[in-house]
Amino acid sequence: MIARPFVTANFAITLDGRISTRNRTPADFSSPRDKRRLLEIRAKCDAVLVGARTLAADTMSAGLPAADLRAARVRLGKSPYPLRVALSNSGRIPPQLRFFTADLPIPVLFTTKRMPSRAVSEFAGICDIYLHLSREVNLAVALATLREDYGVKRVVCEGGGTLLRSLLTAGLVDELHVTLCPRIFGGKGAPTLTGMAGDYLQESTRVRLVEMLPAGLECFTRWRVIRG
Ligand SMILES: NC(=O)c1ccc[n+]([C@@H]2O[C@H](COP(=O)([O-])OP(=O)(O)OC[C@H]3O[C@@H](n4cnc5c(N)ncnc54)[C@H](OP(=O)(O)O)[C@@H]3O)[C@@H](O)[C@H]2O)c1
Repeated sequence: MIARPFVTANFAITLDGRISTRNRTPADFSSPRDKRRLLEIRAKCDAVLVGARTLAADTMSAGLPAADLRAARVRLGKSPYPLRVALSNSGRIPPQLRFFTADLPIPVLFTTKRMPSRAVSEFAGICDIYLHLSREVNLAVALATLREDYGVKRVVCEGGGTLLRSLLTAGLVDELHVTLCPRIFGGKGAPTLTGMAGDYLQESTRVRLVEMLPAGLECFTRWRVIRG
């Protein structure tokens, strides 16, 4: 049995627990200091994990646009960039997304046999693809693959809520960084940390506060998942 990497997550939420608006506008409501913190957390990880809708909504490359953080990684004997990892169950994800076209080391895509065969050929060469036979990507297997094939020991999930919910449901989250932002969105359709408010998780996840840092108008928090 291959050990999986340590899994942390990083989200900015409004005071009413939303990660975006009803229209899934880009997650851009946190401060420059929070965005720097996001990069610092990313830089400490070997891989960054992102769901298909966030890749599209936020047009993110998931690179490391901070030369000092890249240099610090290199000093530690690491690659300048963490491995970039995308997840899509359907495989219906546009290869034109910035994540795939950015001038960065090629990313990894975990998807399923549901991916149309034409898309499989389109993606060959622009990323490493893993096609799971199940209807949904087996997240435990995907994490074990990251560990075994890429030596990944620490992963950060940067969204979105649907992906975080899947990871929580599978018991695969160890830690959460949550930035409380001075905004209240309201609205029925705005996603939360676990995506659209809907069914309860099979079991509630218990967490323990390990860090809390008021920063300007925001508050950075870090939580450890309690097992058992
Ligand atoms: N505030 C924040 O910190 C923050 C952070 C990130 C994102 N966001 C916001 O969140 C919104 C997007 O979140 P979202 O919940 O709609 O989408 P999401 O989690 O980014 O992406 C959902 C998609 O990811 C794929 N996926 C989810 N679980 C998977 C699994 N177990 N295995 C394989 N693929 C899986 C599926 O792709 P397919 O449909 O292709 O199967 C699914 O439709 C955006 O508005 C974004 O701006 C906010």
